[in-house]
Amino acid sequence: MRVSIFGTGYVGLVTGTCLAEVGNQVTCVDIDAAKVEGLRRGEMPIYEPGLDTLVVDNHAAGRLSFTTDAASAIASAEIVFIAVGTPPDEDGSADLRHVLAVARTIGQHLTRTAVIVNKSTVPVGTADRVRDAIRTELDRRGLDLAFDVASNPEFLKEGDAVKDCMRPDRIVIGSDSRRAIEQLKRLYAPFNRNHERIVQMDVRSAELTKYAANALLATKISFMNEMANIAERVGADIEMVRHGIGSDPRIGYSFIYPGAGYGGSCFPKDVQALERTARQYRYEAKLLGAVEAVNRAQKQVLFARMHEHFEGRLVGRTVAVWGLAFKPNTDDMREASSRALLDALWSAGATVRAYDPEAMHEAARIFGKRDDLVLCDSADAALDGADALAVVTEWKAFWSPDFARIAAALRQPVIFDGRNIYDPAAVEAAGIAYYGIGRGRSV
Ligand code: UGA
Repeated sequence: MRVSIFGTGYVGLVTGTCLAEVGNQVTCVDIDAAKVEGLRRGEMPIYEPGLDTLVVDNHAAGRLSFTTDAASAIASAEIVFIAVGTPPDEDGSADLRHVLAVARTIGQHLTRTAVIVNKSTVPVGTADRVRDAIRTELDRRGLDLAFDVASNPEFLKEGDAVKDCMRPDRIVIGSDSRRAIEQLKRLYAPFNRNHERIVQMDVRSAELTKYAANALLATKISFMNEMANIAERVGADIEMVRHGIGSDPRIGYSFIYPGAGYGGSCFPKDVQALERTARQYRYEAKLLGAVEAVNRAQKQVLFARMHEHFEGRLVGRTVAVWGLAFKPNTDDMREASSRALLDALWSAGATVRAYDPEAMHEAARIFGKRDDLVLCDSADAALDGADALAVVTEWKAFWSPDFARIAAALRQPVIFDGRNIYDPAAVEAAGIAYYGIGRGRSV
């Protein structure tokens, strides 16, 4: 099928590439000419395991192309995806500027019947606004073309995006048009083998499904972080509790890892946007507000531990930070817990020596040059001359360090483990004080 996708961010680029991989003719459209040029040369705008080879191969095979030419991309497509960003605006609602701009562009250039599919995470009711925007432009051109608008939210995770796209748990299609549903079923048939993954519903339910999924996952995390804070105070170990509750299949083991708080481009933004949507409909989503508040506080827990350990004297101290990305296998630092920690350390007068396997460029871009930040080439280099070590992102490369070397390198051997990746006994056996999340205090 001939597919055009607006937006070459995470969602658009990964979706376009996977659709090309199964034999569709895909055109990815972006207004950023430099990005488009780069993609043509095989330069990825994001770090995502496995994506570069797929992009290069499909581009070489002529199934995947990149352009800034919206008009021809729309004219040739049977299916047009909208996969542009929906950043939060000042009050936390999703900003639909980009989505509606693409909708208007579609209306200005549509020449044939097509299915318009919204993949961006958008508040309930957006499909109607997209339909209106397209219709207005068509009316302006005096054209009475039939088109359908469907909602097809994306559930891919950064770091696992290609796998999630090629082997999805579910494919949610929201539309009241039989024609749109049939087209999308045909498009997704290669991803829907062996067992039925397509969940068909009305547009509004599909739009809400996306927010409900992210809000529930964020709720699980904040719930566990709250339990960790309680465990800490009552002298229990949250890791034991996690095992104890996860074995109940109704609870499950996934997304119950306590830590330094959730980050990324989705959970913080989506929980907030859903809360705002509820408010617009005069409903106060108390649980969502609490999920957010717990997360905000959780991002300060590691710093609070350090502050306490060093009895408030952080001026002039140096802290090694392992992990800057909001989670492993990505270079994305949006809403990352590391940023809250770094800000707090800097405000307290400390210097940071930081290392992340992928996010160093991103860190340099965000923070620029400053005297209280040293971006290091390796995890070991970050330890040089540091007083303490904080682990903020659980990259595999940090899981089995040489504790004797850490003990020798740190001036005051102490680890603040923001993801509970170490065995406290092993750390303490090496003569290093240990603080985790919800695991009591090192003495
Ligand atoms: C999330 C969802 O998991 C995807 O299903 C969804 O498609 C995506 O948002 C989206 O809306 O686009 P992502 O933001 O890539 O994906 O990252 P996650 O793996 O969900 O992690 C989010 C944050 O939660 C990370 O900071 C991670 O460290 C934290 N987390 C996760 C925990 O603190 N504990 C856990 O048990 C799990």
